Amino acid sequence: MSPDDRRSDTMVKTVPEAENQHTPAVKAAVPTPVSVAAAGPHDVVDHAIARPVFETRDLAVLYGGKPAVLDVTMKIPEKEITAFIGPSGCGKSTILRCLDRMNDLIPSARVEGEVLYHGHDLYGSGVDPVQVRKRIGMVFQKPNPFPKSIYENIAFGPRVLGMKGNMDEIVETALRRASLWDDVKDRLKDNAFGMSGGQQQRLCIARALATGPDVLLMDEPCSALDPISTGRIEDLMHDLKSSVSIVIVTHNMQQAARVSDRTAFFIVDLDGGEDRRIGRLVEYGPTGRIFTNPHDTRTEEYVTGKFG
Ligand SMILES: Nc1ncnc2c1ncn2[C@@H]1O[C@H](COP(=O)(O)OP(=O)(O)OP(=O)(O)O)[C@@H](O)[C@H]1O
Ligand SMILES: [Mg+2]
Repeated sequence: MSPDDRRSDTMVKTVPEAENQHTPAVKAAVPTPVSVAAAGPHDVVDHAIARPVFETRDLAVLYGGKPAVLDVTMKIPEKEITAFIGPSGCGKSTILRCLDRMNDLIPSARVEGEVLYHGHDLYGSGVDPVQVRKRIGMVFQKPNPFPKSIYENIAFGPRVLGMKGNMDEIVETALRRASLWDDVKDRLKDNAFGMSGGQQQRLCIARALATGPDVLLMDEPCSALDPISTGRIEDLMHDLKSSVSIVIVTHNMQQAARVSDRTAFFIVDLDGGEDRRIGRLVEYGPTGRIFTNPHDTRTEEYVTGKFG
């Protein structure tokens, strides 16, 4: 499947090109977050991304009417690895879930603002959420294989989506892309629960890859894994990024520094008291800069381990 097939217009309605640009007027309209310190001469959110796979504009999520994350305006580049970091509760998973419409599955969640996917409104009325999840795969913290054989775990998605082609080849290709083929080629009929934790996580990655996505969202994919399994997943991410755009949530600063091209730092803003905890994007830019020359003191304190 070519990248162009993957973003055919059957899924989404088009946002006019002129609207799909951050004009100075739009940027100026983005409110300065309450109690977020002024960023001095720097623009702490780097908008200079030529080909974004996602663009969020004033993205906000409320649970039961209570805001959890506000004012997230950012562009996520294509075919790179973007890391979301920040203390617990700052909204990393919530924002990640906005990128494949998984918050739709949480009845109390309300998404406000815009998410553009290759310039198309992901929340537009013509969008089919099934097609969204075909193109935008998600891998969770805890490996969650289906209680089925290794083969059936991979074949499930392509079958549900009615994908054409030889299923054995689809399964082998996905397992090879996830560096798992050599481990499992002689036991494809075995139950997936018999695999190690690291193998199960690579199986979940292979399962996500089987439908030919162009984005992989990963929410702390290594936090349940040992260092060797973690290293294999990181190597895999590196190999995949030539064909897939990746967004990873991680609590591991070293991991963000090792694997990502860009890093977004979120914070929990107390915004008037403990009972009003609101997540906000504080700083976003090339990973090297975020870790060596952060422009906001809170980013510096977080990446140097002084809080969080
Ligand atoms: N399903 C939900 N219902 C109600 N509130 C929620 C729900 N999911 C998240 N929240 C709230 O939204 C805020 C952001 O949560 P989220 O899980 O996105 O943070 P996080 O940065 O991923 O945290 P962690 O690092 O602990 O995973 C928190 O205050 C959390 O309590
Ligand atoms: Mg989370």
